[in-house]
Amino acid sequence: MTLSGKRILLIISGGIAAYKSLDLIRRLRERGAEVRPVMTAAAQEFVTPLAVGALSASHVFTDLFSREDEQDVGHIRLARECDLVIVAPATADLMAKMASGLANDLASTILLATDRPVLLAPAMNPKMWAHPATRRNRKTLSSDGVRFVGPAAGEMAESGEAGEGRMAEPLEIVAAVEKLLNGGQKPLARRKAIVTSGPTHEPIDPVRYIANRSSGKQGHAIAAALAKLGAEVTLVSGPVTIPDPSGVRVIHVERAEEMRDAVLAALPADVAVMVAAVADWRVASAAGNKIKKKPGEAPPPLQLAENPDILKTIGHHPSRPTLVIGFAAETENVTENGRAKLERKGADYILANDVSHATGIMGGDRNRVKLIGRNGVEDWPDMDKEDVAAKLAARIADALSR
Ligand code: C5P
Repeated sequence: MTLSGKRILLIISGGIAAYKSLDLIRRLRERGAEVRPVMTAAAQEFVTPLAVGALSASHVFTDLFSREDEQDVGHIRLARECDLVIVAPATADLMAKMASGLANDLASTILLATDRPVLLAPAMNPKMWAHPATRRNRKTLSSDGVRFVGPAAGEMAESGEAGEGRMAEPLEIVAAVEKLLNGGQKPLARRKAIVTSGPTHEPIDPVRYIANRSSGKQGHAIAAALAKLGAEVTLVSGPVTIPDPSGVRVIHVERAEEMRDAVLAALPADVAVMVAAVADWRVASAAGNKIKKKPGEAPPPLQLAENPDILKTIGHHPSRPTLVIGFAAETENVTENGRAKLERKGADYILANDVSHATGIMGGDRNRVKLIGRNGVEDWPDMDKEDVAAKLAARIADALSR
């Protein structure tokens, strides 16, 4: 557990993103951290101290002038008896208070009294985030040594307005916490990953082959995202026109059987992500010489043989990686078919996409997937393949850290 024994003071200020702090508490505790929550008055309009208390298994501090709390712990001890103070969500108002040293409630008083590192996850309307006053405050806080995670760009929950201001996702905040507290160790350091990507080419004769339209964009992006989190990545790629991602060992293959051999040779690994669009069939016996077109003769028949299923082989292998992940392109009953595939192939997760409307996923830059696991299904919004890759890499780091 990456945060074993770490004591975190979590200040929740008032914003719709406060609901995500409930998940943040859960994620921090899963990693062994102890979470002491402090809520502002406004935060309690969005989530209840009861929910925060239940998830953190701790008393929730809300009032500077509570006689019992002051006798018991006291705001100065609260501010100092921790390894890190997180403010999530951090509102424009609380940032302004911090920047000017105001201390008129428990949260702002702790933030002025603490000598511990402070991490802010701002969440506010994009106009408020872009306002010169907030920009000034942010600069002041940065030069005071306060760290930031997010905000991200996206649509606001309340207004539907788009722009920067959405609170970082709980797992991103956790990653920032781990980085801060564990001396910058990357979450997938010393982990080995195998990724397949691209199509396979199955020869008919020395000059002709059977192929498909896979570009390799999604698989390559996943290999790059895993490497970015510190993993040692072997990417086994079929023939593609995109460049090799940096920081990754790339093995170029053509046929499914070569791809399988390269994947097996790269074992053992902690995670395998099989993204390649492996051809289901190869030509049973490819001709050694170019097949000649003979005038007046019927076209030669193509006898096909089934290719090895690489995902299934890995999913049932004696040296099976801890995590085995596959993809599925489905045109109907996406979830049910994905679930069945998960079982059949011995995978832990299947990322399924609905290709029924010829949405340009294959070869395109964006992807819309469902993450199907043993315990449920998540519907991810339409995003860039790079973002799908980053989100998946974060999930892999998360699953391997348990
Ligand atoms: O069975 P289907 O081709 O739909 O399964 C897709 C998943 O299985 C993908 O993750 C793909 O990379 C993997 N696969 C494989 N070897 C095959 C066929 C599919 O690894 N021969």
